[in-house]
Amino acid sequence: MMTQARIGVTGLAVMGANLARNLARHGHVVAVHNRSRHRTKTLVEEHGHEGAFVPCETPEELVAALERPRRLLVMVKAGAPTDAVIEEFAPLLEPGDMLVDGGNAHFADTRRREAALRERGIHFVGAGVSGGEEGALLGPSIMPGGSAEAYAALGPLLEDIAAKVDGVPCCTHIGPDGAGHFVKMVHNGIEYADMQLIAEAYDLLRQGLGLSPAELAEVFAEWDRGELSSYLIEITAEVLRQTDAATGRPFVDVVADRAEQKGTGRWTVQIALDLGVPVSGIAEAVFARAVSGHAELRSAARDLPGPAAPAAGAAGEGFAEDVRQALHASKIVAYAQGFDQIRAGSDEYGWDVDPGALAAIWRGGCIIRAAFLDRIREAYAADPAPVSLLLAPYFTDALARAQGPWRRVVARAAELGVPAPGFSTALAYYDALRAERLPAALIQGQRDFFGAHTYRRVDREGAFHTLWSGDRTETEA
Ligand code: 6PG
Repeated sequence: MMTQARIGVTGLAVMGANLARNLARHGHVVAVHNRSRHRTKTLVEEHGHEGAFVPCETPEELVAALERPRRLLVMVKAGAPTDAVIEEFAPLLEPGDMLVDGGNAHFADTRRREAALRERGIHFVGAGVSGGEEGALLGPSIMPGGSAEAYAALGPLLEDIAAKVDGVPCCTHIGPDGAGHFVKMVHNGIEYADMQLIAEAYDLLRQGLGLSPAELAEVFAEWDRGELSSYLIEITAEVLRQTDAATGRPFVDVVADRAEQKGTGRWTVQIALDLGVPVSGIAEAVFARAVSGHAELRSAARDLPGPAAPAAGAAGEGFAEDVRQALHASKIVAYAQGFDQIRAGSDEYGWDVDPGALAAIWRGGCIIRAAFLDRIREAYAADPAPVSLLLAPYFTDALARAQGPWRRVVARAAELGVPAPGFSTALAYYDALRAERLPAALIQGQRDFFGAHTYRRVDREGAFHTLWSGDRTETEA
């Protein structure tokens, strides 16, 4: 009689292998399987001493090795490979069993798969897993969707291997069907925005003050001790401190300046457009990566007119502190927009996502982990349904303090000719929300002029149309 494993993992590339090791290190018997057998063999050979693994050569063996109801974690590439694995395993499973997709799946795929497997009595759990390779091994942030029943059977295991902050596991049931993958997608969108803002801060300081990467590493290390303290700021200092062994130059100067992407940031923006949620910070971050990749366009446009490269120190005294505050303010906007999208998705699909619980599980384990997330958690604890996080007192105060610096940095960036799309769009969004009147009234006039699309008035109910090509009197539509 084979040992009955508590959970199985199929797909033993680095994320799958590290999650399996994390489970085993926590005392759970883990059945492991991979399409090409050498990965299974290598995992057990190299890490077998870390816990109890049950190596399985075939899907049938893997399914037979699991206690019931079965828990099976699928860690393969998102898209067609996930469907292929589901097709392979679903016929071998029984009603009540749980199939967990821990990849970066599109939430619409997760909804489709969950509905299809529900018909067969199988719980399909789309779980966002953040934290990269190290997080998977040492404690990720986990965002499982799917049924509450599945979470009851799976949650304790996932909470066991998740990161902990103040003893609280960075894992909670997000909501039905695609909720987990949806919030993971937005997490990644926020990650893009945060990374873009940090990159802009680096560029502004480097060009505006003429600081070297090594000097900038110290600036970011210092920032990491204050309100900006976060994993992304911490690793920024590390990357800037790195010297290229081959050339002796700063690492950041020998890396091609073309940012790549696997697609979750782009999905976030596509879905935000469908939901009508302005996530301009995330959108600018995705577009900034796209601009960076247009080598031909950039090379052809290099001599377009603009300010000459700034002289060292051109930005003047106090610029570093201004940039720090502008970064903080822009980051607040980007996160507020991301949480708006989560609320909109939750409303659209009836998920009832608890944003405070989400902020709590993003405090540790994930790529955007930061002290800042605790402020967001506190804001939702004080008011579970704020119109915007910008209106929470802590954030309003920070935005008030940043007014001068934020505006000076955006203006200075424009004067120096240093692109700062993330900072600029965050400020533009902020000012748009503050505006008593937006120029949208003029747009309505234009739409009515060329297309009789009608408009509403500020002083009366109803829809109206002006006879633009006639005597220009107004009619009620
Ligand atoms: C995480 C990361 C992880 C990954 C993404 C983003 O939360 O652990 O977000 O999911 O790094 O794939 O990568 P791209 O920048 O390639 O889109």
